[in-house]
Amino acid sequence: MKKLYFGTNLKMYKGIQDTVSYLKELDTLTHDLDRNLITLFVIPSYTALEHAAASVNQNYIHLGAQNMCWEEQGQFTGEISPLMLKELGLHIVELGHSERRHIFHETDQMLNLKVKAALSHQFTTLLCVGETGEEKELGISDEILKTQLKVGLHNLSAEDTDHIWIAYEPVWAIGVNGLPASSAYAEEKHALIKATLTEIFGKQGSRIPVLYGGSVNPDNADELITQPHIDGLFVGRSAWKAPGFNSLIRSAISACHSSFC
Ligand code: PGA
Repeated sequence: MKKLYFGTNLKMYKGIQDTVSYLKELDTLTHDLDRNLITLFVIPSYTALEHAAASVNQNYIHLGAQNMCWEEQGQFTGEISPLMLKELGLHIVELGHSERRHIFHETDQMLNLKVKAALSHQFTTLLCVGETGEEKELGISDEILKTQLKVGLHNLSAEDTDHIWIAYEPVWAIGVNGLPASSAYAEEKHALIKATLTEIFGKQGSRIPVLYGGSVNPDNADELITQPHIDGLFVGRSAWKAPGFNSLIRSAISACHSSFC
């Protein structure tokens, strides 16, 4: 079976206490799952990170930050540096979530600086890409995805691929007003993303895990995860109660077992 990735970004929802109790419950519920077969990760808010890191063993649940500045220090009021995240012992940095791109106007060029900084500080770098509804209507989704990947991952080396994950999250599929992508649509875009990663990095590019995100829920998770080019699920709302996330993960694992993916 392919290695499966399951993760959630808690966005700006849970404070310290909620994050810690969520993590402890998720840890208990998922402890028996073989970590050689799955990787599980949670990305809490900044203010909860220190307590989160103290409350779980990251060999079981990797923890990450939702964003990061590309500079180590300086006149960047309100930003968080790679060194500050390193102090917390985190494994992952998420970059370029659609809310960062569209509400806070992060560009592909800025994201390239952030990706380079995250890699140089040995973080697993989860770069999110995805077209808007308007770009989809205009028929330019593939061009947008290729541009986000080629600029965001500009000037990296094939060795960096061991530390890069991609999340494909079509903007029109995310959040309360989102419509989940069909598994056929997601599969087509994942195949394009894998082909683009191979174009950028050579053979090693095809080994970069590509996760799908955007209204993943218990009804569509199994069909999504069994698509050949989908390596994992990056879940929002459906993951924010630990029992629900645990059931979704277990169901997706058995779907993969039964369809030999
Ligand atoms: P959603 O969020 O699953 O609630 O649509 C996905 C995301 O923003 O990563």
